[in-house]
Amino acid sequence: MRDHCFRLSGFVILLALFLSNSSSHASRNIVGGESVDRQDAAPFMVQTPGFCGGSVIDAKWILTAAHCVFKEYYYELHGGDVDSFHFPETYSIIKTFTHPKYERIIDGLASRYDYALIKLEKPIDFEHSSLKKIRIADPEFAEKGQAPGVLATAFGWGMVAEDDHAGMTEVLRSVQIPIVSMEIANLDYVYNHYIENENSMLPAGDLAGGKDACGGDSGGPLTVKDPQSGEKVQVGIVSWGVGCAEHNKLGIYAKVSEAYEWIQKTMNEN
Ligand code: ARG
Repeated sequence: MRDHCFRLSGFVILLALFLSNSSSHASRNIVGGESVDRQDAAPFMVQTPGFCGGSVIDAKWILTAAHCVFKEYYYELHGGDVDSFHFPETYSIIKTFTHPKYERIIDGLASRYDYALIKLEKPIDFEHSSLKKIRIADPEFAEKGQAPGVLATAFGWGMVAEDDHAGMTEVLRSVQIPIVSMEIANLDYVYNHYIENENSMLPAGDLAGGKDACGGDSGGPLTVKDPQSGEKVQVGIVSWGVGCAEHNKLGIYAKVSEAYEWIQKTMNEN
């Protein structure tokens, strides 16, 4: 959420030394992407309180990032349109669940196991709603479906400028970026072995820079196409990154397949 992201900017300066990377200013929203004109191109997309993204994975369940969930003001979420100023549908939240292994690391810059589930008070009536659920990647799909080089799409209503007071993007945006191997993500000039043993992280992006998710996109989905069925499958959750769309940096997503069991179990037991 905001706190996480804006604290990020301060720490980026420190980290920049560590990573010997000179940060340039990038605009803060889905960077280098395009607007999503039709709701049915991303019918699973919702906006959570506190301006994060989320995805509908079942009639009563929204998947988002743990760092987006602050119980105190978690009352309602919105969706049903790409235009965030005119959401037609509102849902009350009754409970949130954060992955037991969720943890902020590197002084709050990054998160591991950045998964949360939001339970809605009433189920989404899919017959009358324009919301639809998205399939989530299980470990079997993950083996091939999210291999390095596979093209993925991130969605979000992220902030439109670097500073705290900038408004949100009105219309949903998406950006296409390839999944990147952990080997590349851990190169000295990328994340410098920082995230070598992080099983819950899935890097994606373009080392050339220019294309990325950014502040306010957190919690939103990273999707790929199932090569067999053509169906969209959610493989990641927007989690963190150093700056946005910077040269030799990548976006880091919470790897959905790693939490598949926890997601199923939480939905079944609650
Ligand atoms: N933490 C940010 C948020 O809450 C998302 C950061 C994603 N950054 C990136 N460069 N991919 O919205």
